[in-house]
Amino acid sequence: MTGAKKPIDHGFRELKWLLRQRLLAGITPAVAVDLYAGEGRILTELYRGFRQVHAVEKDPDKYDRLQRRIALRLQGPGRPLVATYRQDNRVFIRERLAKIADVNLLDFDAYGNPHPLIAAVFQVWTPHTRTAIAVTDAGRIPLLRAGRVNLAHYRPGTAAEAKGRPARVRPLSAEEYELLVQGFWRELAERHRFALLDFFGAWAPGRRVLYYGVWIEPDRNLVDRDRPPCPQPLEPQPHGPGEPGQAPPRD
Ligand SMILES: C[S@@+](CC[C@H](N)C(=O)[O-])C[C@H]1O[C@@H](n2cnc3c(N)ncnc32)[C@H](O)[C@@H]1O
Repeated sequence: MTGAKKPIDHGFRELKWLLRQRLLAGITPAVAVDLYAGEGRILTELYRGFRQVHAVEKDPDKYDRLQRRIALRLQGPGRPLVATYRQDNRVFIRERLAKIADVNLLDFDAYGNPHPLIAAVFQVWTPHTRTAIAVTDAGRIPLLRAGRVNLAHYRPGTAAEAKGRPARVRPLSAEEYELLVQGFWRELAERHRFALLDFFGAWAPGRRVLYYGVWIEPDRNLVDRDRPPCPQPLEPQPHGPGEPGQAPPRD
């Protein structure tokens, strides 16, 4: 042992940043929803330009750090109104997401496979304007281990109900995996009738984790009577500790 410190590898974080910067360039920031907010590194740096940010984090320690970071970095005039929710993101989706108006950025910076959660989002929400979606996807890791993989996670219509035995599949190449993910989005778009504008991604070194982004928007071919009604704007309300809370309001 030399005691020499290993250099910190910021490669993954840079990829995440670059991907989101590119996504943000394609929209006019309005309301962001960060479903895996963690300590809020991404949201406090990159989502400052939004009017509102909704941040969901279930881990109590991370949630405390998230709140401290928001209080430190997102106070003052011109900063977004941030609502934080210490809860499981599936509960947030079920109980709150549909009531939030003007969402045009969704962030899924997950540790594992976020596709079942993405499918759950579209059960209750649909884009009303051009929307950017940022995804960290480690779903290829079980495939690389040739482990048991629930391929139903990539079929948006069946993910929620799929309880059958996962399949054992050979490890997929990175290219094959990208096709699987793109197929997921195509099926989702068809099922929920939105338009998929672009899909772009970058692999982390080792090609195990895929960072990708998509822009979607309402399908212009849909007649208005087919659209679900637009929710009314929901202003974040103050909450006590342990409940969904918020950073101090804007001046
Ligand atoms: C990769 S980290 C997110 C890092 C974050 N984007 C940042 O910039 O600091 C993933 C986070 O998602 C949280 N998480 C995982 N599963 C969750 C769930 N079901 N509901 C809410 N949060 C969850 C974890 O506790 C973890 O903090």
